[in-house]
Amino acid sequence: MHTSSHALARLLGDFSAGAGPAHRRLSDLIRLLILDGRLPLDTALPGERDLAAVLGISRTTVSTAYATLREQGYLSSRDRARGRTQVPTRAQPEPASPGPDLIDFSHAAPPAPGEALHRAYTRALDRLPRYLPRHGYHPAGLPELRAAVARRYTERGLATDPEQILVTNGAQHAFSLLVRTTLRPRDRVVTDHPSYPHALQVLRSAGCRITPVAVTEDGWDVDGLAAAARGAAMVFLIPDFHNPTGLLMSEVDRARLRFDGGLVVDETMTELALDTAPPVPVAAHRPGVVSIGSAAKTFWGGLRIGWLRADRGLVQRLAQARAGTDLGTPVVEQLACAELLGEIEQVLPGRLAELRERRAFLLELVGEHLPDWTVGRSDGGLSVWARLPEPVSSALAAVAPRFGVHLAAGPRFGVGGAFERYVRLPYSLDPAPMTDGIKGIAAALSAVRSGTRAPTTPATPLA
Ligand SMILES: Cc1ncc(COP(=O)(O)O)c(C=O)c1O
Repeated sequence: MHTSSHALARLLGDFSAGAGPAHRRLSDLIRLLILDGRLPLDTALPGERDLAAVLGISRTTVSTAYATLREQGYLSSRDRARGRTQVPTRAQPEPASPGPDLIDFSHAAPPAPGEALHRAYTRALDRLPRYLPRHGYHPAGLPELRAAVARRYTERGLATDPEQILVTNGAQHAFSLLVRTTLRPRDRVVTDHPSYPHALQVLRSAGCRITPVAVTEDGWDVDGLAAAARGAAMVFLIPDFHNPTGLLMSEVDRARLRFDGGLVVDETMTELALDTAPPVPVAAHRPGVVSIGSAAKTFWGGLRIGWLRADRGLVQRLAQARAGTDLGTPVVEQLACAELLGEIEQVLPGRLAELRERRAFLLELVGEHLPDWTVGRSDGGLSVWARLPEPVSSALAAVAPRFGVHLAAGPRFGVGGAFERYVRLPYSLDPAPMTDGIKGIAAALSAVRSGTRAPTTPATPLA
């Protein structure tokens, strides 16, 4: 694979924005594109002369940037051949990789509810002996967990049989299994815009064509979705506390979702209703919808438990197809997740109250330290979508590690380099790192704006 100078220039966005010398800005941005997965690995970068001409900079700038990337291990260094993108194999002192010292604003994922998780695992171990005499492979999931997930859908207003549930190793696994099993390269898929970066990554790596339809402050453009869906193989939406915006699709819009092509909804955040009642699943409005869910946000990402709800035929097909990559989900984690689902009404209120407090605290911090950012309304979930006055999101994410913060640039959530004016701000962090993180982002932004050289010493946590 190779990328042309024009394609790379589009990904680089407004190259004039950013701190430090031009070669540094260029190597920082290319490194960010590699780490974000927007420049796939093993992609040959354009020739120096050609890229310099397209970017309107000197060839020396490009060759110095390429040399830095080679030194840091992000470009292969075969003589004469064009450098190919890679990630360093040895530990680098380079701050752009999410090191332990960086405050992680790149994930919107809450910590585990410690006591409840401990209790769930203890009970899971108590229940384990009954599974030990058998082989332990359950491609569609453990009956106990399938029943617990089905019960939760039923409680939420969508009658569900356990045989309609496929347990997976997370929502991400569910989506990639579905895409790999039911779509073909060149199939067209309609998505929210912005959308969840790893879902976009699944579609890209399956060779699908993505048609993005904007999600704005006003919510979803259902007519626009229907028009875009004509002839598409799939429509993929995140209607419940959408990642990254936190928006909730209205009941009226849910009832109007009728498309060509299959509708797949990712309801990973569905239990994190901060300002509203938990939404009724989209599939209650329309039969045939495939719903994807997860324990990651309700309980803990480290469980690695997700699921898919569909008709029995598709569940069986996917359970068979998963054998191509894995043979099932760990039994103890499934038992622990079933326990947690049984306790959900006890666990959730405290978690939601904490998230509400953290969201309010984040908004205060943004008002104080980033006063010219506009934070969009969020109905729940784990993040807000903040708008910057200028299109410098990638430049900001590239320099932020030098100010102690790992940040996801807006364009990760889009296609074709969109969202340079946006940053997703999660409120899943504890107040102290959240404060330091926002201060770090403000300092990084000042450096980007003034074009001054950022500190070159490795990042240390801000006090
Ligand atoms: C919308 C959405 N889908 C899927 C996932 C991944 O979930 P899991 O950890 O269950 O694979 C996330 C996690 O951030 C998410 O926000």
